[in-house]
Amino acid sequence: MKVLIAGGAGFIGSTVALACSDAGITPVILDSLVTGRAEFAEGYAFYPGDITDGPLIDKIFAEHSDIYAVIHAAALIVVPESVADPIMYYRANVTGSLEFAAHLIRNNCTRLIFSSSAAIYQANDDLTVDEDSPLNPQSPYARTKAMCETMFADIAAATPLRVLSLRYFNPIGADPEMRTGLQVPNPSHALGKIIQAISERTVFHVTGTDYPTRDGSGIRDYIHVWDLATAHVAALERFDVVVGSTQAVLNIGTGRGTTVRELVTAVSRVTGTPVAAADAPARPGDVVGAYTRNDRARRMLDWEPRFGIEDGIRDSLRWAGVRAGKLGDQQLS
Ligand SMILES: NC(=O)c1ccc[n+]([C@@H]2O[C@H](COP(=O)([O-])OP(=O)(O)OC[C@H]3O[C@@H](n4cnc5c(N)ncnc54)[C@H](O)[C@@H]3O)[C@@H](O)[C@H]2O)c1
Repeated sequence: MKVLIAGGAGFIGSTVALACSDAGITPVILDSLVTGRAEFAEGYAFYPGDITDGPLIDKIFAEHSDIYAVIHAAALIVVPESVADPIMYYRANVTGSLEFAAHLIRNNCTRLIFSSSAAIYQANDDLTVDEDSPLNPQSPYARTKAMCETMFADIAAATPLRVLSLRYFNPIGADPEMRTGLQVPNPSHALGKIIQAISERTVFHVTGTDYPTRDGSGIRDYIHVWDLATAHVAALERFDVVVGSTQAVLNIGTGRGTTVRELVTAVSRVTGTPVAAADAPARPGDVVGAYTRNDRARRMLDWEPRFGIEDGIRDSLRWAGVRAGKLGDQQLS
């Protein structure tokens, strides 16, 4: 089986490519390298370029007429940047995905897996969500994901393109064999900030301590990126059964909520050293968070997350130690 991965040189796309490759599925990579790394595309058929580039996509399908499905993980993903420059985000993520869909349909593609986000949900009072929960995306970035899903549903209803939207929760960790991981040295999510505080010997700030959670700090569903990647392998293998004739949506999380304070404790356990932490007010845009009621993906994909939160922390820490050397690149900030 061959799969085209748009965004395959990014954090998630490159891990999905490895999981596919390890499972005997051949990845073909399309990536503009706007945030991705050419190193992550090494060893694959790699087409540098944009998802809106019609002639390039025609060329990919001409050279790989046996592409079975497309995974669309190409997007801009930084929430504050989307607040500052919504036009760039709507153009890249919404207009770009619309153009991409048209190019795929012209090339007779019938299977598309779309990287969506749990950030589009309105959580229940118990802070859980399932695929039928109401949507209430809180940032321009999250709204681009919700808009793409709506757009793809309309397109799937009217064309042979069928779409599976995977709503990811909060990926952490790296490829367990350390072949890929996050490209950026200082990720802005809580685990990234904790690791940064450890390495800079500063205090980690728990931002937001009066949320309606068991300890007042925000809650997330951290999923090891390798588990996220293997969900794509399962989704490829079961696409026709899961999606049927139009479209489907699945949450990809663990079903476990971890608060920021619990994350701090888990990191302390993994490193064997207490993390220095202090309470701080919520930052603009911070949200309480949510975790999945996960049954549908497990059932439909016959897939289980294998890794726990401490595995994800351990692999994030290991990757932080090898990243610069792997990417031959100290100057990224
Ligand atoms: N990382 C997360 O926490 C998270 C959570 C939920 C959903 N997602 C979704 O998963 C997908 C992958 O995210 P990621 O964390 O790997 O981000 P990333 O920035 O590491 O990867 C995105 C990749 O897409 C490429 N790209 C971006 N725009 C492109 C374009 N127009 N044409 C071709 N290539 C383009 C980039 O160069 C990069 O390699 C995104 O769609 C994102 O919205 C990510």
